[in-house]
Amino acid sequence: MPPIHRITIEPVGRVVDCREDQTILDACLRAGVWVPHSCTHGTCATCKAEVLDGDVEHGAASSFALMDFERDEGRALLCCATPRSDVVIEADVDVDEDVPVHPVQDYTGTVLSIDNIAAETRRIMVELDRDLAFNAGQYMSWQVPFAPGLTRTYSLANPPSQPRVLEFQVRRTPGGRCSEGWLFRSLSAGDTVALSGPYGRFVLRTSRPEPAVLIAGGTGIAPITSMIKHALLDGAPAGPLTLYHGARDQAWLYDTELFRELELAFPQRFSYRPCLADEVATGFSSGLVTDVLAADYPTLAGHIAYVCGPPGMVEGALRTLMGKRLFPRDIYREEFLDEGDKATGGMRSPLLRR
Ligand SMILES: Cc1cc2nc3c(=O)[nH]c(=O)nc-3n(C[C@H](O)[C@H](O)[C@H](O)COP(=O)(O)OP(=O)(O)OC[C@H]3O[C@@H](n4cnc5c(N)ncnc54)[C@H](O)[C@@H]3O)c2cc1C
Ligand code: FES
Repeated sequence: MPPIHRITIEPVGRVVDCREDQTILDACLRAGVWVPHSCTHGTCATCKAEVLDGDVEHGAASSFALMDFERDEGRALLCCATPRSDVVIEADVDVDEDVPVHPVQDYTGTVLSIDNIAAETRRIMVELDRDLAFNAGQYMSWQVPFAPGLTRTYSLANPPSQPRVLEFQVRRTPGGRCSEGWLFRSLSAGDTVALSGPYGRFVLRTSRPEPAVLIAGGTGIAPITSMIKHALLDGAPAGPLTLYHGARDQAWLYDTELFRELELAFPQRFSYRPCLADEVATGFSSGLVTDVLAADYPTLAGHIAYVCGPPGMVEGALRTLMGKRLFPRDIYREEFLDEGDKATGGMRSPLLRR
């Protein structure tokens, strides 16, 4: 058993135990102590904190997300840092009434079904060994079975009212170790998978009654689907929701029938705008999702926004939203950063702090 060290989290003064082979973020989240995080793999810099006392090993932190001078000045990425002594950190621990803290736990799941739902995209349904408490929009970490210690994160598309059978929507990444190398190659119904979670703070804000625009690129629709189902089907408080889902053409778009049915069932609360960048077709808007949104709204003052998808798409959406007079505090977002972004420095947008 590796040595265990005490981590003191300031300014709240909470103390948690952390094994020497465990990241400080993991120890905090499992103990129910919220600290900011997003990618959980050393790329986005959301979890950056001051190490006030003690020694840490920086692990696989990207040199773009944590620069050498920041290491020298005593900063660390909590999702990569492991303790080498008792440690005192100062993190940006803001209590958010909208986001109940559900401690991270390990789960065993059984794959119920795998369906091809769009080009290079699969829906994977997984039944857990017990119920999962989570907030609509959060994600789970998957342990890749043939590579000990290798994990990948996938968002939950099911609402919290469905706590045992989870829905994931996964895009194949060419050359990707988890998606192409496992989920699209050998994963089968009946297989057992090891998951942990829930993670993340890209969640439906139930205290915000303003109208919301929800902008999704590709499988960025997954957490947004959870939010929409939570608001419409579970009755969670939320203002009117307008969904913009962008894809190249119809082959890359999915769940259009689901969203059209929700639009019919909740005409006052939900509108659906599927956008095709490379195809003109009846029932779909033509153009980039950001251009369609920009043409729809002279201003977005008085709205809030949720944005999720690949980093480039999220960056474009942020520019559009801010150009339409939306303030940073009114924009919630999640970038699907991957190992390529970690290696090349494609980190969170400098346009906004989280
Ligand atoms: C919070 C969050 C939620 C997410 N939710 C979803 C979701 O719901 N659905 C979904 O489809 N995806 C989601 N993702 C993305 C997902 O986690 C994976 O990043 C994605 O599936 C790729 O993983 P992979 O193992 O298949 O590819 P990887 O092996 O991680 O490779 C990804 C890319 O990086 C390149 N690469 C790998 N290593 C290097 C290197 N050292 N140098 C340069 N390039 C490199 C590869 O060639 C490839 O192009 C989410 C990401 C985050 C951060
Ligand atoms: S959560 Fe630690 S760098 Fe992204």
